[in-house]
Amino acid sequence: MKRLKGKVAVITGAASGIGHASALLFAREGAAVVVADLNPETGEEAAERIRGEGGKAVFVSVDVADSGQVERMVRGAVEAFGRVDVLFNNAGVNFPATVVDVGEKAWQRSLDVNLKGVMLGCRHAIPEMLKTGGGSIINTASMLGLVASPRQAPYSAAKGAVVMLTRQMAIDYAQRNIRVNCLCPSEVNTEMNRRFIEQSPDPAAELRRVLARIPMDRMAEPEEIAAAALFLASDDSSYITGVVLPVDGGLTAM
Ligand SMILES: NC(=O)c1ccc[n+]([C@@H]2O[C@H](COP(=O)([O-])OP(=O)(O)OC[C@H]3O[C@@H](n4cnc5c(N)ncnc54)[C@H](O)[C@@H]3O)[C@@H](O)[C@H]2O)c1
Repeated sequence: MKRLKGKVAVITGAASGIGHASALLFAREGAAVVVADLNPETGEEAAERIRGEGGKAVFVSVDVADSGQVERMVRGAVEAFGRVDVLFNNAGVNFPATVVDVGEKAWQRSLDVNLKGVMLGCRHAIPEMLKTGGGSIINTASMLGLVASPRQAPYSAAKGAVVMLTRQMAIDYAQRNIRVNCLCPSEVNTEMNRRFIEQSPDPAAELRRVLARIPMDRMAEPEEIAAAALFLASDDSSYITGVVLPVDGGLTAM
């Protein structure tokens, strides 16, 4: 039984990492997928791969921080597949810094992509979901929305706000059959994380520090986050809304 049969899912940041793994999984579970990303080459490739597997997908170029582009993304989903049932606000960026050394542009971009991007996705998708009787929204927050880590001021501030925005929107739309939940991954083996470790002054030491905090003693693979997103997207989680779900190998249990 395919869990997302007949559903239309918009996934941002779907050209890489967690979003890419989710796009493949959601399509295999029967969803028509809108692969939405800033990167047209890898985005087109992801949509092509889904179609090559016999699934339905279109690529839409979007900067989630731009209201006009997000509106166009949602319109593109409706034009291609007629409706929006699932919105996975997953696109994100990380500019490691303290509040003293962060540039104001990087600070603003972190808030614009990681937080405003979630708001804009919801603002434009919710009216479409209401037309067809409801939907499921999943936001990718982070463990850094729950606990602190050195030099993550712009990222943690945005992800912490995504956690609370998730709860807020869940309350606002609970009676209209739109569920809103978020995922809090710890360390995931993706481009974002590899870049973060490679750019640290001592990458080997940084990797050891990262793994030392995780009870399961390993990073997640993007497919393990995608599996949690699928649960929240599907009717398997029909009575779950406003939940902040760590997918973190036990990190936030410590
Ligand atoms: N990798 C981790 O360890 C980790 C941990 C916790 C949370 N997260 C979060 O998971 C999400 C996905 O990250 P990932 O690790 O898969 O990263 P990734 O770098 O592999 O993929 C991110 C994708 O988002 C796209 N993107 C970036 N800015 C965008 C924008 N403004 N508009 C549209 N698309 C944009 C990129 O082009 C890329 O394809 C992010 O929100 C990230 O903060 C990641």
